[in-house]
Amino acid sequence: MSQSDVKRDVRNSLLFECAWEVANKVGGIYTVIKTKVPVTVSEYGDRYCLIGPLSYKTAPMEVEAQEPTDPHLASTLDALRSAGVKCLQYSRLDEWKGDLWNLAGIPTPPNDHETNETIVFGYIVAWFLGEYVARQLSVAVVAHFHEWQAGLAIPLCRKRHIDVTTVFTTHATLLGRYLCAGSVDFYNNLQYFDVDHEAGKRGIYHRYCIERSAAHCADVFTTVSHITAYESEHLLKRKPDGVLPNGLNVVKFQAMHEFQNLHAAAKAKIHEFARGHFYGHYDFDLENTLYMFTAGRYEYRNKGVDMFIESLARLNFRLKKSGSKTTVVAFIIMPAATHSYTIDALKGQAVTKQLRDTVTEIQNKIGARLFDHAMRSNGEHGTLPTPEDLLSDEDKVLLKRRIFALKRNALPPVTTHNMAEDAADPILNQIRRVQLFNASSDRVKVVFHPDFLNSNNPILGMDYEEFVRGCHLGVFPSYYEPWGYTPAECTVMGIPSITTNLSGFGCFMQDLIERPQDEGCYIVDRRSQSVEDSVSQLTDNMFAFVTKTRRQRINQRNRVERLSPLLDWKNLGIEYSKARQLALRRAYPDAFYGAEGEEEEFDFSSGMERMMPNSVPASPRFKMSGIATPGDIGTLTEEMQSLGTSDYRGYGWPATADDEEEGYPFPLV
Ligand code: UDP
Ligand code: G6P
Ligand code: GLC
Repeated sequence: MSQSDVKRDVRNSLLFECAWEVANKVGGIYTVIKTKVPVTVSEYGDRYCLIGPLSYKTAPMEVEAQEPTDPHLASTLDALRSAGVKCLQYSRLDEWKGDLWNLAGIPTPPNDHETNETIVFGYIVAWFLGEYVARQLSVAVVAHFHEWQAGLAIPLCRKRHIDVTTVFTTHATLLGRYLCAGSVDFYNNLQYFDVDHEAGKRGIYHRYCIERSAAHCADVFTTVSHITAYESEHLLKRKPDGVLPNGLNVVKFQAMHEFQNLHAAAKAKIHEFARGHFYGHYDFDLENTLYMFTAGRYEYRNKGVDMFIESLARLNFRLKKSGSKTTVVAFIIMPAATHSYTIDALKGQAVTKQLRDTVTEIQNKIGARLFDHAMRSNGEHGTLPTPEDLLSDEDKVLLKRRIFALKRNALPPVTTHNMAEDAADPILNQIRRVQLFNASSDRVKVVFHPDFLNSNNPILGMDYEEFVRGCHLGVFPSYYEPWGYTPAECTVMGIPSITTNLSGFGCFMQDLIERPQDEGCYIVDRRSQSVEDSVSQLTDNMFAFVTKTRRQRINQRNRVERLSPLLDWKNLGIEYSKARQLALRRAYPDAFYGAEGEEEEFDFSSGMERMMPNSVPASPRFKMSGIATPGDIGTLTEEMQSLGTSDYRGYGWPATADDEEEGYPFPLV
């Protein structure tokens, strides 16, 4: 039977979603996949299958091995296994590289490990899909790919005429990330870059070719925000069909105060860390201490860490000048190469624990003595002990020893780990430049934790989520950020955050809410003002936050938390449905016409778990009246293709490069 004879059912399509970060955490794409599972399963049930690379290191924590129930899937996997996939795949790398050159004209250098992985993964996925649709002939198959590392299968599917319809979602562009990380005035020059030349200059031409061919060969091409849609149009030379904003799996608490209680409990754990870390210099009041943080993959300029540290220095100066008694502890959580924890950081937690153990021991003894005194009759009744009766000399010696162990000559360290490249590390160098060395007189202290958080960690033993809950403010002043999950996660946990109008998330909130800053969602303008002005605005935001009363902070947390439905997959998942429907229509147009030749209407969200529009809180003022769901601003339509460049939501992008931004580095305090 030829392929054109096959009539696949498009109403009950099957979905394969494929990404390098399936069950393999690197950054935010892992969060997209993981948090979206419930809403996709509510629509697809057993017809949904994720495809990712097998990482022997993380697999035991991430997945459970199972055999598929779908007989076609089982026999497809058997066919691949019997051809040696699992242990032999690398043996075909050279053959596949040659094929890629013949098929798509994509060259590949010999020693780029990441590209080799991409090729092997892409060829196996395309092989798998080909085998699968040759067996299963009744139902249409949607294959959705994320990011270039998974996208190589798309041109392969197309060239081999594999009967699937494809969606490609890019979460950034390779060139965009590289260009921004250098000192380029990216946004004002987007339409002028000579893309092949720029990619070649950075040694990523072959990767760029893979990304570009994925974008061009996909039936439907999407991205995560309007700002990245604009970037993709210019750097990948295909205008996206639509925007699929990232959601989260929002857990609603029964009562409002529950998440506030979680904040207080998590904050107590951070206090515990702070006592240990600052031992010997713990001369500030934890009741009057605020925790700020930034977190993510280590991209110094893209994630705006440069701006964060500069603003912290200015905040320190302003707090000192105003005679403030408030202390700010600012955490930077970004994985870098290290040689484990520093002795000093471990010692801080150890001496604190010893003191606590000693105090508990003495406390127990005091209790026993107190009880004994009260019980033991002096002839008539028990007696009240004197302080000397309670605290023995031996106890005092023990306690003194512990107190002396807390003495320390050096200042509390900035970093918790021994850095592999201490002298060249950009974060440490910037901290050195602005001299935020955790002196007693500093109102702003800095802790750089160059690793993701984990509750098994001996120093800051908390999961990332718990840590975020315990903090007061997340600060993410990104320069390049297609979406930015970190501030979105803050929002659903009821923690205020600062982001920028160069991040997909920041623009999304700005598009939806009248005055985001009133809702605890601060957005620094990094687009239309100079770097100096952006730093001032960030410092002002942080200073204003520090001067809030506890009551105001509690109130603001309540307001932030009420925005969570805007970020719930139950509302945003529909954009993914629209993308899949568009892909099906493009691949099987005939299936969408009734007997009379009229086009059939499609209910995008049939079967999908949805949140009622009125579950979105009434309180924040929304900008766009009449929108049914926040996802509707994603506007995935055929019409998007016919819009001009300037039509991306929320932007009047520059037509010329006259408007040069002020260069780096910005001036010191
Ligand atoms: N994250 C984490 N542990 C940490 C710090 C961050 O799991 O200690 C996660 C965070 O929850 C978020 C992701 O890392 O989901 C970062 O995603 P984002 O979209 O902000 O940035 P990306 O790294 O993808 O550029
Ligand atoms: C939560 C708790 C309160 C606590 C407050 C501290 O709201 O429910 O009991 O007083 O957090 O807020 P703060 O902003 O000072 O950490
Ligand atoms: C990318 C982007 C990030 C986004 C994530 C998920 O890694 O850098 O901004 O949040 O993908 O879409």
